[in-house]
Amino acid sequence: MRKFEHKDLLGMEQLSVEDIELILDTAESLKEISTRDIKKVPTLRGKSVINFFYEPSTRTRTSFEMAAKRLSADTVSLSASGSSMVKGETLVDTARNLQAMNPDLIVLRHSSSGAPHLLARELKAGIINAGDGINEHPTQALLDLYTIREKKGKIKGLKVAIIGDISHSRVARSNIIGLTRMGAEVTVSGPPTMIPVDIETLGVRVVHDPVEAVKKKDVIMLLRMQLERQSKALFPGLREYASFFGLSMDVMKGAKDDVIVMHPGPMNRGVEITSEVADGPYSVILDQVTNGVAVRMAILYLLIGGSKE
Ligand code: CP
Repeated sequence: MRKFEHKDLLGMEQLSVEDIELILDTAESLKEISTRDIKKVPTLRGKSVINFFYEPSTRTRTSFEMAAKRLSADTVSLSASGSSMVKGETLVDTARNLQAMNPDLIVLRHSSSGAPHLLARELKAGIINAGDGINEHPTQALLDLYTIREKKGKIKGLKVAIIGDISHSRVARSNIIGLTRMGAEVTVSGPPTMIPVDIETLGVRVVHDPVEAVKKKDVIMLLRMQLERQSKALFPGLREYASFFGLSMDVMKGAKDDVIVMHPGPMNRGVEITSEVADGPYSVILDQVTNGVAVRMAILYLLIGGSKE
């Protein structure tokens, strides 16, 4: 019997291969619920989940809310601008007040790396990291792994290129950990100013030229240009970035015939990806969003769904 022995989900770093497989298998069995006329099961009835988003979000916030509701949990959403943090209350005091209402889980997105880890130490409720600064975005990596496995039938042995602003991307970090742990071969690509100098220690190859980086790849994963996280100009401009590193049909020519193109969103069309690729036959970008609900249902279920078995 497989068990998920975690109070919190803070990062891919904490998950074993067995944990990841259990999450993906559970998501596979829950995905069908979202295709029913009545998209609801009573599994988490009586449980409560607080979505606390200190940064903007479309996909993660909505899909966590949908996932919780489809499992019949009660949900409350709170944004930093709508909370008493604007009056000077600290994150920890805010969280302690939320804990006083006895929720089972708090889903936290925060601009500071390590914020979910701090709350996990302070609170009895489970904490899910919905993206912390430039550190990790584990549920994004898990839905990406799910989508790759769904489309390719496996993860082990696949060749994956991740292209973009690797330094500022929590999605890249979580995916690098998850993909290498599951046996994929990962190549990262982007301007030298956007790739950490010691990135190879994470078990990836660096190929700066994107045409070379995508050659013979099964999966191409694009990253958003994180302009809000770049403290100084790391590239002359968006037009230059698009012409050197943007993924067009032409750049993709050397990839495998059945390559899939992924992007966590939100996309900068015409910067890191052309519309022709984003809306074209290789794109699985909206499948990623669909799978995000199933994967987040699985995570909620495994963390607070009664039996741990
Ligand atoms: N991929 C992702 O985290 O998207 P949102 O910022 O819209 O949640």
